[in-house]
Formats: sequence, structure tokens, C-alpha cells
Amino acid sequence: MPKDAIPTIGPAHVAIIMDGNGRWAQKRGRPRLFGHHAGARRVREIVEACPDMGVKYLTIFAFSTENWKRTQVEVAGLMSLFRKYIEREAKALVRNGVRVRFIGDRIRLDEKLVAMMDELELLTSHNDLIHLTIALNYGGRDEVTRAAKRLALEIEQGRLTHDEVDAETLSRFLDTHVLPDPDLVIRTSGEARISNFLLWQSAYAEYEFVDTLWPDFSRTEFARVLASYGKRDRRFGAVSA
Ligand code: FPP
Repeated sequence: MPKDAIPTIGPAHVAIIMDGNGRWAQKRGRPRLFGHHAGARRVREIVEACPDMGVKYLTIFAFSTENWKRTQVEVAGLMSLFRKYIEREAKALVRNGVRVRFIGDRIRLDEKLVAMMDELELLTSHNDLIHLTIALNYGGRDEVTRAAKRLALEIEQGRLTHDEVDAETLSRFLDTHVLPDPDLVIRTSGEARISNFLLWQSAYAEYEFVDTLWPDFSRTEFARVLASYGKRDRRFGAVSA
């Protein structure tokens, strides 16, 4: 077991807002995409660290429903990076027992990228060591709205009555319906906001805001954040035992 492994019970599901790629590049006098490429290399390192750290589910925010407002060059560069990531990492993900899922609305994504996402989900569908979920064209409000629409259709078509709608029923219509709720949400780069990420699912999550820019967020720092989570007392609205 590596020396930074977390021997005690840590968070089973960690979600990460990978922020700070642009500033990381800017500090080096390079274009923003240079930072996104460095960020993609960190994704690999953090995914590979998960089994040693007791993290079974990792959910990462790669592209939000609001990120379309960036320049056309940056958006196109990010989309091309996602395609390259899938191409480059697919074999290792299959080999390393990583099950990949994508959440978010695929409707606005390029057909070729969507086909690659579907293929990667299928290729890794028998894996169970780590569950990596990549949020792509994802927004929490958008996800809940899409879920509510589908729920309304079920009622309209007589498959469900309005009396049967409760939190559990609504959860079944979310993109994350097969995942447990996140235990810990980490945001890098010193910003303390959640930016529409997993709004419903994070109702009882712990949050960690770290100053490090995402391309500098190492396995060692990941281990430190997970260790500090272990010291928290999660009460889910109840009182301590
Ligand atoms: C936020 O940093 C980051 C993004 C919008 C993109 C996240 C993408 C990656 C880490 C690249 C690779 C991901 C995968 C899954 C291959 P920012 O650009 O807002 O940084 P800034 O706040 O410093 O400008």
C-alpha cells in the first residue's frame, strides 16, 4: 500500500470542480488551452490514486452548461481535448477497472464526441473498481429541469400519479440515478462557490475549497484533503452520537 494511502474510512464518493486551468496557463504566459491540457494530465493522476485512497466514485466537472459562453476557440479546444482524452485513455481505463459514465445533456454536443462517449461507457461497463463520472455540458438546474420534464410526461401518460412524486422518485430521473450522493465536493483555485454542480445530490455533502490551481492539484494534496474529511463529524441533520 503506498504511504499516502488512507487506511481509515474516507469518502466513498468525491466530486471535484476542477477550476484554475486558465490562471495556471496565464501565470506561464501561455494560452488558456495549455492549462486545460495540463488539467487533463491531473485527471489521470487523481483517477489512478482513487483505489489507494478508498474512493470508489469520482465525479468531475469537465464542462458546464454555462461554459458555452467562452470564446469559440476555447470551446472548440476543450471539445477536441475531450475527444483526445477518450482516444488516449480508453485502453488504460478499461485495463485499470475504471467504469466511465457521462452526465449532462448530450443534445448540444458534437455527434462524433457523443459516439465516443457512448463507446467508452460500453467498453468500461463491466468494470467496478472505480466509477468515474464525467460531467459534460452539465448544469444542476438543467439536470433537475430535464428530470422534472420527464416526470411530468410519465404523469401525463398515466404511468405515475402526482401522489407518487417524492424525492426518491425525482432522483430516479436524474442523470446520476445509479450513483450514490457525493460525500465530499472539492473545488480548486480558491473560489468558494458551487457553480451549479450536483445541486440536488450535494444536499448533505461536505465541501473543501483549496487554493491550488487544478493543474497543480497533486495526489499528495488529494490525500491531505481526504484525510481532513476523515476528521469531520457528519450529522445529516441529526445530533452527534
Ligand atoms: C475551469 O478552469 C476548467 C474547465 C472549465 C475545464 C475543465 C477541464 C479539464 C480539467 C480538462 C480535462 C478534462 C477531462 C475530463 C479530460 P478555468 O478555465 O475556469 O480556469 P480559470 O478560472 O483560471 O480561468
